[in-house]
Formats: sequence, structure tokens, C-alpha cells
Amino acid sequence: MRAARGPSDVGELRVDAARLHSRLAELGEIGSTGDGGCARLALTDEDRAGRDLVVTWMRDLGLDVRVDGIGNVVAVRPGREPGPPVMCGSHIDTVATGGVFDGNLGVLAGLEVLETLERAGRSTRRPIAVAFFTDEEGSRFSPDMLGSLVYAGGMAAEEAYDLVGIDGKRLGDELARIGYLGTTPCPGEAPYAYVELHIEQGPVLEHHGDVIGAVTGVQGISWQEVTFEGQFNHAGTTPMSYRHDAGYAAAAVAVAARQIAEELGGHQVATVGALEVRPGLVNVVAGRARCTVDLRNIDEEVLEEAERRMAAEIDRLAGSEGLTVARRGLARFEPVAFDGRVVDLVEATAREHGHRVRRLPSGAGHDAQMLARMCPAGMVFVPSVGGVSHNPAERTLPEHVEAGANVLLDVLCRLADEDPAS
Ligand code: GLV
Ligand code: MN
Ligand code: MN
Repeated sequence: MRAARGPSDVGELRVDAARLHSRLAELGEIGSTGDGGCARLALTDEDRAGRDLVVTWMRDLGLDVRVDGIGNVVAVRPGREPGPPVMCGSHIDTVATGGVFDGNLGVLAGLEVLETLERAGRSTRRPIAVAFFTDEEGSRFSPDMLGSLVYAGGMAAEEAYDLVGIDGKRLGDELARIGYLGTTPCPGEAPYAYVELHIEQGPVLEHHGDVIGAVTGVQGISWQEVTFEGQFNHAGTTPMSYRHDAGYAAAAVAVAARQIAEELGGHQVATVGALEVRPGLVNVVAGRARCTVDLRNIDEEVLEEAERRMAAEIDRLAGSEGLTVARRGLARFEPVAFDGRVVDLVEATAREHGHRVRRLPSGAGHDAQMLARMCPAGMVFVPSVGGVSHNPAERTLPEHVEAGANVLLDVLCRLADEDPAS
């Protein structure tokens, strides 16, 4: 490492946006879906290849790279003093229809911050770490934010190993298979603070012409899988009153989810994102159907009301159609409020950079909400073009990527250099 310069240069250093973009593009090539997006579901071969690339970049920078028992990777740049690091990061797994920014931006911008400091010979009082957490998306193995949940002590790694993915594979086996069953213990060390840069994935910042979001918290998440069993029967000969149509019930759950969200209004959202009917033939009444329900709200009480209404509707449908119903909880996290001091720091730093800033809650789940269990945590949002995400067309303007990375740089430095008594 070069001779250290002092902390007086906070606000003067700037990231190399071209280098950050070139890494985003290179990582986005792994698992590329050929339409601008990528598919790197957690613990697949594509995830392994993405991990290997990012770990190579971390090692090239001389960082101390550790892999823990759930496959989280934490890379540390030492500070002038020992102690817990100021941590940034996010995830590099994606949904199957992912873009190249979701999660990846937070990890690669963190790496870019550390490279900027390193090249400038700029030391910090505390270490700064950049992490990527396993299976943030939860698309293959539920719940989402799994790696950061285990890091924060919310689930034992051994319990997580036994989770079964949508392809029937066991998480622990897949983690070992891709070579990321590490030896650093879980739960992990509590950082001094955690700050995550992420794309907004919604339309609010763009709509208002704001450049930086100072994220106040994350809404509560309720995920379940519902399976109806009825009777396969002939589509032509079975009178409507004789049917036990599981496909009808699952479709009605999707309609009910929309109605419940509209009735509750405000921030309530509801999604049936997976719906599978069996046998899936034109002339057979569907005897089996599986669907997922995703309910979210920033208000825990309203979220519970949405859950109650959904449960009552599922029971009513099963009763009236003569079906059995099985429910499986996939994820349940209460709303999280971020640390007020970190939110203020993000807002103030962004204003000093001359950006229009908005305080807003996050609609998506994030690793920061798990880290908030163990240290002061917060997030920096940058706008998503058209509010589109979990879609290959997901995009954030280059100037917004650069603005977010530079805000992250200064927020991290300020936290890493602040007086121990503050
Ligand atoms: C996962 O990050 C989600 O918000 O669905
Ligand atoms: Mn994400
Ligand atoms: Mn996502």
C-alpha cells in the first residue's frame, strides 16, 4: 500500500466512472441473456463464474478476501487503526430476467471506491470492506436476503444448508459444489456501519427529477407458496358444478391479490409472480395448481391485514371449489427503519455534491435491511430509467451511476474517518 495521505481530501477524490462501467459490463456478460440482461441465479455455475471474477478483482487490489460458511464474500482494506470495518456491498446473484445493475452496482461501486482510495494513497482511520452476500434474490432458494440474514445471525448456516431450491437442489450441496462453502464463521463480525448503493428499481426518483435517494428503510415482505389439489377431469363432459378446478382457484388468487392491494391502497403491493397448473392441457380441468403470493407494505399492521384477507380468500376458494390447500411460508420480514444518522449523512453528502436528493423508503428487499440488525445501516439510491428492474431493460444513466458512486465514496470515508467519540 502507498504512503497514506490524511483525511483532509474528503470530497476531493472522485471514482473512475469508466472503470466502474467496464466492470459492470464485464460482469454482465456472465450469464448474459443476449438482450442486455443476465441470469445468474444463486449458486448456479453462472453465479460461480461471476463470483470468481469479482474475487479476482478484489485480490488484484490487494484486499484481504474472506468467504464465510454461507458463501458471503467480504474483502477488507485495512485502516490506520484496527477495529470493525465500515462496510459496503450488495449482491451479484440475479433473478432469471435480471439486469446488470441490480446488486452488481453496489458491489462494483464499493470495489471502485477502494480502488480509488488505493490509487490515491488515501488511508482511512477504520478499515473499509466491500461484501457480496449469497442469494439476495431468493428466486432459487427462499427466503431472499439469505446470505445477509445468516451473516446477521437471523438464521443458522446449518438451517440454510437444508433449504431446497425451485430445481429440487439442496442449498448446502450447491454451495459446496461451486466452491464457496467458506471457513469464516457465521454470524459475521458486526461492521462499524453499513452503506449500500443500489438502483431504486422503481419510478420515484426519475419522476421527481432527483438524482440521489437517501433511503429511510425497507418495506415489510410476506412471501408464500399456495398449492391447490382438486380433480383432473374432462373439460368437455364435466358440468361446471361438478368441477374441483385447482387452476381456477390459483387464477382467482391472482385476481384477489390485485383487489386486496387496491382496497388497502397506499403503499400496499401484491404480486402473484408464479402460477403453474397441472396437467397444463387444453382439454383437462386442472387438478393441481401452485402459485406464489408476494405482499409488501411499509406499515406492518396493514401488511398483516393484507395477509389476513389473502388467507381468508384462499380458504373461501378452496371451500367453494372442493379443493385441499397447502401453504408454505417462503419469507417474512417486518419493515425496517434505517439509522437516522446514516440517512442524514447520505442526504447531506449528496447535497454537498450538488445533487437533488429525496428521502424515500425502498420497495425492494436489500441486504442492508439485514445488516441493520447488527450496525447502523443505510442506503444510497440512484434512479432507474422508467422504474424498470428485474428486467433485461433495467438501466441507470451513466451520470447517475457516477453520482451514486461518488456519494458512496464520501459517505464511506466520512464514516471510516469519524472521531471514535462521535
Ligand atoms: C428481492 O430483493 C426482492 O425485493 O424481491
Ligand atoms: Mn438487489
Ligand atoms: Mn433484485
